[in-house]
Amino acid sequence: MTNVPRCMSIALMCQKGGVGKTTSSIQIATAISQILTPTQPGRPTVALLDCDPQRSTQRWFALRSELFKAEQNPDRKGELSNPVMVQMAPEKVTEKLDEILSRGTSSGIQCLVIDTPPSILHCNAVVAAVADIIIIPTPPQALDLWAVEGTLKMIKEARGSDKLQPQIVFSLTAPKSAYGVQSKLNEAAKAIRTDYGARYLVNVLSEYSITRRQAMSSSIQSGLGITEFDPEGKSAAEIRKLARWCVSQFEDIRHEEDRRADHRVAAAGGRQRRPVGR
Ligand SMILES: Nc1ncnc2c1ncn2[C@@H]1O[C@H](COP(=O)(O)OP(=O)(O)OP(=O)(O)O)[C@@H](O)[C@H]1O
Ligand SMILES: [Mg+2]
Repeated sequence: MTNVPRCMSIALMCQKGGVGKTTSSIQIATAISQILTPTQPGRPTVALLDCDPQRSTQRWFALRSELFKAEQNPDRKGELSNPVMVQMAPEKVTEKLDEILSRGTSSGIQCLVIDTPPSILHCNAVVAAVADIIIIPTPPQALDLWAVEGTLKMIKEARGSDKLQPQIVFSLTAPKSAYGVQSKLNEAAKAIRTDYGARYLVNVLSEYSITRRQAMSSSIQSGLGITEFDPEGKSAAEIRKLARWCVSQFEDIRHEEDRRADHRVAAAGGRQRRPVGR
């Protein structure tokens, strides 16, 4: 039997609207799809799931599908989209999430990126309860930082005793080279650690902020991710760095799961054997 990596999940969530959840979901999913090695050649490795009734991620994917049709764009003839999209109405997601993740594993999908709606809907709690990585994009401004607490509370309640560190990534930031930007980011990171660090286990990925750049929205309007649209650009480099961090987290999570499984087997007096799949 082949060792199929289980489908890891990354949720982009924030109760505040317009902070870059959808943009980050699409960009991270596309960048990760260029990093992961398919279990079989030519198979997609990443899927996107849109839990937001606004359906923005779905619309991006529809645009992308047109782009990838051979007759529309001979340059992409024969190419299949990676990421693929989970076609499901948002209201169904809550009851089907486990099934989506196990279906992903059996079809070679190694990563599910979940775009969630603003506000605290039931589906956000369901996603928060199972996600392997939760990224909260937020601009580094006071009003936005204050609003992060509602999201952190919801995640804490959804996880119960199952601890997870939500990750803050500063979004829509000015370029770091601009005057005073780096110190503003440092201040924002410090405020989050001081106000919420101990209570919500939150971590700030202060080296991974996502800068506001026209190319980011242009890539989405073109049905592409930034790492496809402008692979050599600064935004692509930022997104690729964040995607690599996510992939390195997958490795850590797998090692920890293997270690625990070995420990359980050893405790039961059996021979140590690595689990396959989830
Ligand atoms: N890095 C970026 N550079 C330029 N524009 C961006 C960037 N990130 C987001 N935007 C723009 O900011 C706006 C809000 O982004 P987005 O829709 O991704 O946020 P959201 O959190 O998903 O919003 P909602 O809560 O409504 O779902 C959009 O117009 C998007 O194009
Ligand atoms: Mg959105």
